[in-house]
Amino acid sequence: MRPISAKVHRDLPATQFWSYGASVPGPTIEVQSGEAIFIDWPNELPTKHMFTIDHNLMGAEANKPEVRTIVHVHGSKVPPASDGYPENWYVPGRTAVVHYPNQQDAALLWYHDHTMGINRLNVHAGLFGLYIIRDREEAALDLPRGKYEIPLVFFDRMLKTDGQLYYPVSEVEDMPWIPEFFGNAILVNGKLLPFLDVEPRPYRFRLANVSNGRFYNLSLLDSDDFHQIATDQGLLPSPVKLSTVFLAPGERTDVVVDFSRFASRQIVLQNGAVEIMKFRVAKDKSSGGGVLPATLRPVPKIPEAEAIRTRYLTLEENVDVLASPMIHLLNGARWHDPVTEQPKIGTTEIWAFINLTEDSHPIHLHLVRFQILDRRSFADEEYLVTRKLRYTDDPQSPSLGERGWKDTVQAHPKMVTRIIVRFEGYTGRYVWHCHILEHEDNEMMRPFDVVA
Ligand code: C2O
Ligand code: CU
Ligand code: CU
Repeated sequence: MRPISAKVHRDLPATQFWSYGASVPGPTIEVQSGEAIFIDWPNELPTKHMFTIDHNLMGAEANKPEVRTIVHVHGSKVPPASDGYPENWYVPGRTAVVHYPNQQDAALLWYHDHTMGINRLNVHAGLFGLYIIRDREEAALDLPRGKYEIPLVFFDRMLKTDGQLYYPVSEVEDMPWIPEFFGNAILVNGKLLPFLDVEPRPYRFRLANVSNGRFYNLSLLDSDDFHQIATDQGLLPSPVKLSTVFLAPGERTDVVVDFSRFASRQIVLQNGAVEIMKFRVAKDKSSGGGVLPATLRPVPKIPEAEAIRTRYLTLEENVDVLASPMIHLLNGARWHDPVTEQPKIGTTEIWAFINLTEDSHPIHLHLVRFQILDRRSFADEEYLVTRKLRYTDDPQSPSLGERGWKDTVQAHPKMVTRIIVRFEGYTGRYVWHCHILEHEDNEMMRPFDVVA
């Protein structure tokens, strides 16, 4: 981890970032499923932070060093010692050698900082990159590969006219934390309004939303040609044709886009109505391209009857107005409250997130992959009084593009979102949290223990 400077646009001066390598995003790590690796993560950052620290936040007290880091590989199934527990941070001049077993299916994971109380600032500074797991089953499919497989990493930043990053502070004196960040520039792979020269043939794009808080609603102008082939944790059972892709912070999606019909044209990728990048399609058809396979990889449904219990967990705004009205909590508990989620290894549970807030929260569990069961509206105001669930509608199935293995789920407001999880792999302490980094840094994160 080092300070770097990088051009995000031809017409802007170079921007200062912190990175795991020479660029933001950092280097893409590619591994084979089943082949373990070790990564040495030296912290060679300065001792003064790029952004203002809020010392009121748990873990970021004034007696802590300003610059601290700990890396987590999002979506990885690793022993607790390799998971990057938020309190296991280390300072500039130190390093950590971390073991990754990679005993899991092919998927697009990503690594990022996870330091207690300053996670949002460290990730904002540029501390993230992609981590791709490959396996034979995926390689046997005729999917676009090599130069026809391209990651697209989305993150928004507030860019000043001198090209530097600005992370705002609140209006409240001595409480710089803000509840959510939205930038004035959406970067794709670290570039503002980039273009990509493509051939008139299919491409596989691996999309990752690594923004602090922005959700993306991506579409291609003049085309409805997304074929989604994977979710957070790998391939879908079969491709899903979509005109828009909706990605919450932390989520990943693979899509195949076929440019064959667009020779000599320019195709714009937009977020909502805003252009964020452009594909310039060449005139001449190159050989190859293939046909998208009709089936990809079976995703056997976990039967609900397999679950030994359902945990009802609220997502709520803090009722203690004196402390801070903006705090969001998981099941009413703070980080330091006793651990309440202690699933047994080898068992299956349903977690039902009761969202009592006005926002959608992308909820992420470490270690595991899960399936979304459904979302269902309920009488939220009544719940606040009675603490009893009264549903007001039928359950909604997850969208077609969500019917694969997930590690992050959008829990929509005034709905109960149910996921089903097999706790497999390792025992020990992990975390679950909202992936809006401002929420996560301010108590919307809890430890959980997988017990023997
Ligand atoms: Cu993206 Cu706790 O992780
Ligand atoms: Cu994670
Ligand atoms: Cu949240």
